[in-house]
Amino acid sequence: MTDSITKIKEITASKAPMNLLLQADPSIKNVEYYLRQSKCFIVTLEDQIVGACVVKPISENTHELMNISVDPEYQKIGIGRKLLQYVIAATREAKVRRLEVGTGTFGYQLAFYQREGFRVYSIEKDFFLVNYEEPIYEDGIQLKDMLRLMLEFEGD
Ligand SMILES: CC(C)(COP(=O)(O)OP(=O)(O)OC[C@H]1O[C@@H](n2cnc3c(N)ncnc32)[C@H](O)[C@@H]1OP(=O)(O)O)[C@@H](O)C(=O)NCCC(=O)NCCS
Repeated sequence: MTDSITKIKEITASKAPMNLLLQADPSIKNVEYYLRQSKCFIVTLEDQIVGACVVKPISENTHELMNISVDPEYQKIGIGRKLLQYVIAATREAKVRRLEVGTGTFGYQLAFYQREGFRVYSIEKDFFLVNYEEPIYEDGIQLKDMLRLMLEFEGD
């Protein structure tokens, strides 16, 4: 429905919408840290920022998706998927071979990434216990371990 009127563009990371990014990653310290070395993409709808995604170059061949978030009022109408597909295409065009992402071991986000071709390659036990001061809950379950997912661009 909103597909034709949303716009996606890259902005300077220092202008990233913190309110949205903190929804996906509640640690302001972590977000500020990775923003300094990252690219930021936003989705706008009638000049309002409704989505954001942060991607950090890890090496010449690998980038990591650090954060993706859509304003709760505009979730579940396809904006997140469109933004993820845009970021995947931009990464592929930059001749990067791998796009990685870390996410919880349960929840709809896993399907969100895997639908676009991401595959699980490892697990970081206790990641959310060690790296966050406050416990994080989703659907009443505490997030403890992180799954590492990877999308490889073959034959480019
Ligand atoms: C993850 C997120 C960016 C997805 O954005 P979105 O605009 O809601 O996603 P889309 O509308 O493109 O939906 C993609 C799929 O995810 C599903 N989905 C999105 N939000 C959901 C929710 N809260 N519960 C269950 N499924 C959900 C959609 O139903 C859709 O699946 P379908 O095609 O089978 O219907 C967004 O939900 C968000 O900001 N979440 C909070 C932050 C977060 O968890 N970020 C990811 C950290 S790993």
